[in-house]
Amino acid sequence: MGDELIIRPMVSADLEAIRDITWRGWDDVTWWELLERRHGPWTAKSWRDRKAESVVAQCSSAPDTVLVAELGGRVVGYATFHYTPEDRLGEVGNNCVDPQFRGRGIGTRLIAAVLQKLRELGAKVVTVTTMERDLPARRVYEKNGFVELGKSLVYSLQFD
Ligand SMILES: CC(C)(COP(=O)(O)OP(=O)(O)OC[C@H]1O[C@@H](n2cnc3c(N)ncnc32)[C@H](O)[C@@H]1OP(=O)(O)O)[C@@H](O)C(=O)NCCC(=O)NCCS
Repeated sequence: MGDELIIRPMVSADLEAIRDITWRGWDDVTWWELLERRHGPWTAKSWRDRKAESVVAQCSSAPDTVLVAELGGRVVGYATFHYTPEDRLGEVGNNCVDPQFRGRGIGTRLIAAVLQKLRELGAKVVTVTTMERDLPARRVYEKNGFVELGKSLVYSLQFD
């Protein structure tokens, strides 16, 4: 019998696993990586450092807006969210599943749990933004009932 997947609120002891999953899990799906490919590294910080630091900073400062997926006692994924009560607007934030554990429905379960949380908080409408190229994320969102609203474009330039 396989281990049961548990989706639960984050605790501070999860931060190291969140950092590790972020470090390994975001290839090809961050603007920071695409910027680095186009412009080269322009500070000592790589896109991986930047992504890991920003996710860890967000999770440290607002741990009550983070859910983690745990399998057999190991954290294998996370999802963050944001809620604006005055607008009754929810937003799904960073979410990532350890590459070794993908394709088993964990990402779908995490987003379902975030949606449940936002519903309980009083949200009426929930948004999520992803890259057009991020087909697994799009599938996960669509499986959870999201419908595409529109596309936006990101430009970059480099000073001499
Ligand atoms: C997005 C992510 C969290 C999904 O996690 P996961 O646990 O693999 O998700 P699930 O197993 O629940 O579902 C993945 C779905 O994508 C599908 N999928 C995988 N690769 C695909 C591809 N190249 N094209 C289309 N669909 C694809 C899977 O078949 C599955 O759909 P199905 O259940 O209908 O078969 C994971 O891919 C991830 O961490 N990606 C990197 C970080 C990221 O992009 N996060 C989202 C930022 S907006």
